[in-house]
Amino acid sequence: MLNVPSQSFPAPSSQQRVASGGRSKVPLKQGRSLMDWIRLSKSGKDLTGLKGRLIDVTEEELKKHNKKEDCWICIRGFVYNVSSYMEFHPGGEDELMRAAGSDGTDLFDQVHRWVNYESMLKECLVGRMAVKPAIPKGLLPKSQMTDISTKEGPSSPSYDWFQTDSLVTIVIYTKQKDIHLDSIIIDHQNDSFRAETIIKDYSYLIHIGLSHEVQEDFSVRVVENVGKIEIVLKKTENISWKCLGHPLEKHNSLIPKKDTGLYYRKCQLISKEDITHDTKLFCLMLPPSTHLQVPIGQHVYLKLTITGTEIVKPYTPVFDSLLSEFKEPVLPNNKYIYFLIKIYPAGLFTPELDHLQIGDFVPVSNPEGNFKISKLQEVEDLFLLAAGTGFTPMVKILKYALINVPSLRKVKLMFFNKTEDDIIWRSQLEKLAFEDERFDVEYVLSAPTSEWKGKQGHISPALLSEFLNRSSEKSKVLLCICGPTPFTEQGIKLLHDLNFSKDEIHSFTA
Ligand code: HEM
Repeated sequence: MLNVPSQSFPAPSSQQRVASGGRSKVPLKQGRSLMDWIRLSKSGKDLTGLKGRLIDVTEEELKKHNKKEDCWICIRGFVYNVSSYMEFHPGGEDELMRAAGSDGTDLFDQVHRWVNYESMLKECLVGRMAVKPAIPKGLLPKSQMTDISTKEGPSSPSYDWFQTDSLVTIVIYTKQKDIHLDSIIIDHQNDSFRAETIIKDYSYLIHIGLSHEVQEDFSVRVVENVGKIEIVLKKTENISWKCLGHPLEKHNSLIPKKDTGLYYRKCQLISKEDITHDTKLFCLMLPPSTHLQVPIGQHVYLKLTITGTEIVKPYTPVFDSLLSEFKEPVLPNNKYIYFLIKIYPAGLFTPELDHLQIGDFVPVSNPEGNFKISKLQEVEDLFLLAAGTGFTPMVKILKYALINVPSLRKVKLMFFNKTEDDIIWRSQLEKLAFEDERFDVEYVLSAPTSEWKGKQGHISPALLSEFLNRSSEKSKVLLCICGPTPFTEQGIKLLHDLNFSKDEIHSFTA
């Protein structure tokens, strides 16, 4: 039975969220948690007022439903009656009302395009737009795709293939120079072959039903100076292929990345290790026929189906340890993704994740995020401000900078937690600081015990001005900040007050 206590969801102190630009979640009333919503939506109550009938909605009709107690919103051509969801919306009623009686697709995408509204609002579906339906994004007619690629996007990529007796090689010509192994994501399941290449802010998709069987494993090679990607598949039978296969959905399309749907593959839970009293290190294994490397500073989404409703949450992968050999760029056969995840006992998603057994599967999405590794180029002083599990994006950035940025003189981490017991990987951080004199860590606790001799309190001008001492007056600086929305907002404000420019600050927000 669903015996989950009601509480505002996600937990107000959640630090694993990828919050969106400057707006935060609101406290929800008692009995309005996500679990309460799932219960209500599965209760059989008529949430549309149409007794299960689906209708075609005209624009005039949509416009009429613009009040809290009668609110319809169109997303990607489908209309939902969100009146009963109003009090359950973690972003608050006023935010949801911004799209009342209209097409809320753009607004929705700006804030949280990853939220799985189709599943969450299944019982609220009124029907489709009848007139001028909003064209589902990512499903643009072919003519429009070509338009985008020629007008705004990178010069059109293309692909070709050739074969030997035992191999089939697919070659993607991106015509861009900054293409790396983490620019391409490949999934091969049954006869469906899917290769998504990220070219600047665009996504180029090869999606083919292969004409013959191939083996599970394949190799990927990137010729960086010409932007060529070679994927070598091994034939199961040594026969000559007449064609590569037949095109599947969106094959050979180039569309803005923000308009592509999130693609998930099932990853297997390999291990789960306690790191602090409430935070665990989860290791997930990619399927053998997937090539995916999460770029530094980017996150993925994990999806769980909880009593029939799909719930999605963002997490930033880390390494298995701060001290292990640096693995980036990882080898193509690196199959493991690690996550540091704080379990909120009164929450819904993280306890469910925690209940998974070793060997169970979790869908993991393609990576997203706006951090660019080029931001670290020629940096001399790197300052990292992290609160709680806001530490996760710092893990890869920190290690990458120490190993790959020759100009680097200093990396300082200011790590905010409640108590000493909350500090993730404390001994590893201290060992790293001992081994590498460029690295230094300072802890700030908001609720320490009386024995604590270190810094106390919350992010403040005094703490920051003492911490942010440059190695030289004009040194090239990068500041990264991640934590709960109030922490990040306050931090950015203080950094601006201290005269750091926008370009010198990267906050981890969606
Ligand atoms: C179209 C107008 C909408 C606006 C302007 C809006 C705005 C917001 C804002 C500002 C937040 C808090 C910030 C954040 O967590 O990212 C939020 C959270 C959320 N919204 Fe909306 N929202 C809209 C529609 C919807 C709809 C239709 C759903 C349907 C399921 C939805 C589900 C959620 C969920 C699940 C969260 C919590 C995300 C998390 O776990 O962090 N929103 N929304």
